[in-house]
Amino acid sequence: MITNKPTVFSGIQPSGILHVGNYLGALTQWVDLQDQSDCIFCVVDYHAITVRQEPAKLGRQILDTVKIYLASGINPAKSVIFQQSDISAHTELAWILNCIARIADLNKMTQFKEKGASKESVSVGLYDYPVLMAADILLYQTDIVPVGEDQVQHVELARTLAQRFNRDYGQVFKIPQAVIKKQGARIMGLDDPAKKMSKSASSPNNYIALTDAPEAAAKKIMRAVTDSGSEIIYEPKKKPAISNLLVTFSLLNGINIHELETRYRNKGYGEFKKDLAQEVKAFLIEFQLKYNSFSDDEVKRILQDGAAKILPVAEQTLKKVKNKLGILILSS
Ligand code: TYM
Repeated sequence: MITNKPTVFSGIQPSGILHVGNYLGALTQWVDLQDQSDCIFCVVDYHAITVRQEPAKLGRQILDTVKIYLASGINPAKSVIFQQSDISAHTELAWILNCIARIADLNKMTQFKEKGASKESVSVGLYDYPVLMAADILLYQTDIVPVGEDQVQHVELARTLAQRFNRDYGQVFKIPQAVIKKQGARIMGLDDPAKKMSKSASSPNNYIALTDAPEAAAKKIMRAVTDSGSEIIYEPKKKPAISNLLVTFSLLNGINIHELETRYRNKGYGEFKKDLAQEVKAFLIEFQLKYNSFSDDEVKRILQDGAAKILPVAEQTLKKVKNKLGILILSS
């Protein structure tokens, strides 16, 4: 695994619904990085249980998340794919980093405030979740973390914790860098373009799930909120809904936004949405054909191979950390 290429690490929670926001904001970046970097892509199941998951469904969701990675174009011959809970160094390092992190650091995290605000009671795990994410990233001496915009603040925390540890105990960690896409880093909800597309939205009309029936997904586009006026132009401040649909259209079929603006000059929202609905439908049909072509056994093998391949890197970093802390290691 040690090469001269930069190391890339990222992950997605197996919490049931993955949507085009995850695909356009994160997964397409991962695919683009595969050839130039050593890529490690994790299914972060311990992050998923920070909110209750149905035990009878979680195993299925883990396998299905890997199938989404594969259908998106992640190639297990090039990239390591593994399950977070398979490598206990993640939770061990998270504990150690808990002792480096400050409550003031975590109180700054906006996602916790947003996620916690609508709930009566919130788990300690949800609060501490960015520290586990820092452990994920730092264990592999990661250079680049390709994510959507909502995760940048968490990567900043990983940088802070790495720098603080290195300063206080001696050099162990590389300082990682978040990378987001110029377009698509924040795909907005179809029913409310002021908020990001999210699996935890109150209505399924907020998102296009990658596993939505293509016809149903097309209907969601037709129902999507639009802005006042009738012009199809990219102006995120004045026209957040149409701008979001333009970004989605452009990223799905590769036509740049200016060309789309020209194509739809003097045409109405109805015609534009009808064409986008067709794009989404065609994309999902092709995507799901691939998604359904992988067997559970194949996916389990990929996860086992991935964990076996990456375990020595995680163990080496954890050992260095323990040494710096003065923890005796007598068992190996
Ligand atoms: P998660 O599972 O919520 O989302 C997975 C990825 O999708 C991106 N994303 C979006 N991008 C654009 N528009 C949207 N509407 C949108 N919604 C989600 C996210 O930014 C993310 O890149 N904490 C992480 C998972 C994680 C992780 C890590 C990521 C755990 N450990 C280490 C990187 C490195 C999360 O909950 O992502």
